[in-house]
Amino acid sequence: MKNEKRSPSPSSFHPLPPSPTKLLPSPLRLLRLVPFLLLFASGVALGFALFFYLYQYPLQPTPAYTISSPLLSPTRTPQQPIPPPPPAPLLFPISNGTALRTFLNLPDVSRYMDDRELLRMASAAPRTLEKTSPNVPKVAFMFLVRGGVPLAPLWDEFFHGYQGKYSVYVHSSPGFELTAPSTSAFHGRNIPSKAVRWGQFSMVEAERRLLANALLDGSNSRFVLLSESCIPIFNFTTVYDYLTGSEKSFIGSSDVPGPAGRGRYNPRMRPEVTIDRWRKGAQWFGMDRGLAVDVVSDKKYARLFRRLCKGSCYPDEHYLPTLVSTKFWWRNSNRSLTLVDWSRGGPHPARFVGSNVTMDFLRRLRSGRKCEYNGKTARICFLFARKFAPNTLERLLKFAPKVMQFN
Ligand SMILES: *[C@@H]1O[C@H](CO)[C@@H](O)[C@H](O)[C@H]1NC(C)=O
Ligand SMILES: *[C@@H]1O[C@H](CO)[C@@H](O)[C@H](O)[C@H]1NC(C)=O
Ligand SMILES: *[C@@H]1O[C@H](CO)[C@@H](O)[C@H](O)[C@H]1NC(C)=O
Ligand SMILES: *[C@@H]1O[C@H](CO)[C@@H](O)[C@H](O)[C@H]1NC(C)=O
Repeated sequence: MKNEKRSPSPSSFHPLPPSPTKLLPSPLRLLRLVPFLLLFASGVALGFALFFYLYQYPLQPTPAYTISSPLLSPTRTPQQPIPPPPPAPLLFPISNGTALRTFLNLPDVSRYMDDRELLRMASAAPRTLEKTSPNVPKVAFMFLVRGGVPLAPLWDEFFHGYQGKYSVYVHSSPGFELTAPSTSAFHGRNIPSKAVRWGQFSMVEAERRLLANALLDGSNSRFVLLSESCIPIFNFTTVYDYLTGSEKSFIGSSDVPGPAGRGRYNPRMRPEVTIDRWRKGAQWFGMDRGLAVDVVSDKKYARLFRRLCKGSCYPDEHYLPTLVSTKFWWRNSNRSLTLVDWSRGGPHPARFVGSNVTMDFLRRLRSGRKCEYNGKTARICFLFARKFAPNTLERLLKFAPKVMQFN
């Protein structure tokens, strides 16, 4: 083969020696400079404009695959509240979100709305899937996390092969850019977030933000709230069928006497919320589309809890159970789908570490239970379990697909 290196002939790079006349300033020469001066001036102007734009909307640095270990940070340390970003204007007048997003080929995660706008749009979303919709109903897996999702590789195994039947939403701390490989179900699934402080109403707001985002995708039919320490304990088909086949939603709700239950009730909530309506339950829920619309539409209870459920009241454990048990009680099974181990007592459930994860341990999570499902007795009562430390990932990846019969 011929050597076809296209090096330009050396002569073409030879600067011509400047002719002496060109160095002399002449009126003609100055006139020739005018276009360059104009170009320079517009360049400066553009530079300033870009500077101020970037100053207002800085570009996010994108780290490589980020796996943080938020569990290692003490759970009770309240984060510094970060002032919310100025509400970004809607870039487009969205009348039909689905059509626009399809047209622009955007992920169905809202990027351009503030909370009020978002909740307003989501409350107007259809309560049921369109009968004519060609889409299969999807389950929205909504992750409320502090940083990343360290167990994402396990979830990716779980989701593998079921594209089109699920969607993933992640609410992290503001400024935390979740990055995942493009093959991951978590890729690009961060929703715009605000700071969440443990035990405060901002936690409920984050849940409603997740629900609202997920409602904007008209094919999401069930909505599950998970944390970074949650794992699935059955395979996708079992989880999907259980959720989509259920007549009721799964919001843990019980009337608990004592200081950790009724003791948190604030009598100033009367008459809207009375003590006998006060309920408690873990925040990790599963709900259907109609109830999700009702929850994002609620203003009365949200206002009441934001104002009167503070300090050791823990709105994330009472807002949803109380709201649903009061207004939509017939649509709830009153139990959560997420298994936790409270057997050790104390304010936090047991946290499992790498060495805890064995085939036997995983089998035990799945068996030996009875509960009501669609009016009958079922053996599957929980679909998820927590709390799993990031260092459980390796052993989970090894055992879980076998025990749980992943695809
Ligand atoms: C929104 O757009 C989709 C896809 O173009 C269409 O099927 C649907 O009927 C539209 N919905 C409304 C409410 O206009
Ligand atoms: C759930 O709790 C509500 C209110 O406490 C009650 O009315 C309803 O019957 C309960 N549902 C089930 C399935 O136990
Ligand atoms: C998990 O492992 C830790 C440390 O090895 C141990 O102390 C704990 O009892 C184990 N928990 C369970 C539920 O087996
Ligand atoms: C999922 O797990 C169930 C048992 O829980 C099993 O019967 C089923 O065959 C599994 N499905 C797939 C696709 O592997």
